[in-house]
Amino acid sequence: MTEKVNLLNIEKIDERYSGLAEQSCCLSCGQAINLAEPREGEVCVDIGSGRGTDVIRMAQTVGPNGYAYGVDTSSGMLKKARSTAKKLGVDNVEFIDATFENIPLRDQCADLIISNCSINHADNKQAVWQQIYRILKGGGRFVVSDIYAIEPVPEEYRNDPEAVAECWAGAVTKDEYMKTLQYAGFGTIEILEESAPYDKGKVQVASFTIQGTRPGCCCG
Ligand SMILES: C[S@@+](CC[C@H](N)C(=O)[O-])C[C@H]1O[C@@H](n2cnc3c(N)ncnc32)[C@H](O)[C@@H]1O
Repeated sequence: MTEKVNLLNIEKIDERYSGLAEQSCCLSCGQAINLAEPREGEVCVDIGSGRGTDVIRMAQTVGPNGYAYGVDTSSGMLKKARSTAKKLGVDNVEFIDATFENIPLRDQCADLIISNCSINHADNKQAVWQQIYRILKGGGRFVVSDIYAIEPVPEEYRNDPEAVAECWAGAVTKDEYMKTLQYAGFGTIEILEESAPYDKGKVQVASFTIQGTRPGCCCG
């Protein structure tokens, strides 16, 4: 089933991030890539791969028997990521032009899914986490860095595509975040790191890195 996405938000996200593709500013909010520890031969996915740095690093770590996919909707980011991979001669990678709600990867294909400061932008976070669950193999794991809102973001900002693209208005509270994960099928969620609250845009947020595993056999 194809999930509907908020096209106004996607347009603003493309505009903002394509403009940042050639800059060197940090767009991350945690250590997902450092805490994930990809292993030789694994299939890995980065949800919101941006300039492609983490995907390329995972591809180099998993080696020729493994593979790394990046998923992003920003044309500028995809262009930058593909050209960097080519320049570095890394060919066990693919950067997929897709929204997080509709990821064209087959069921249970991934050993590891990472994401850094990206899922907060998605309009339908439940659909995104259902995609993550669907793509992961039984026993596969995710390590996700993201931001959450300390208090619910006021309605006037939640529906403002520019504020969503700026990486704060789409944030949900920690409680809502965890419920979404549980509803998708993830039982135990571990918080690996968490910041103190800080100001972002017009609200207060905090960053965290969480990890979980899709239940099921890991022998396939
Ligand atoms: C803050 S950047 C983070 C990039 C990278 N993970 C990093 O740490 O540098 C967020 C990325 O997510 C992408 N993005 C945001 N919302 C998206 C959506 N709904 N579908 C696909 N890509 C999205 C943006 O285009 C952008 O490249």
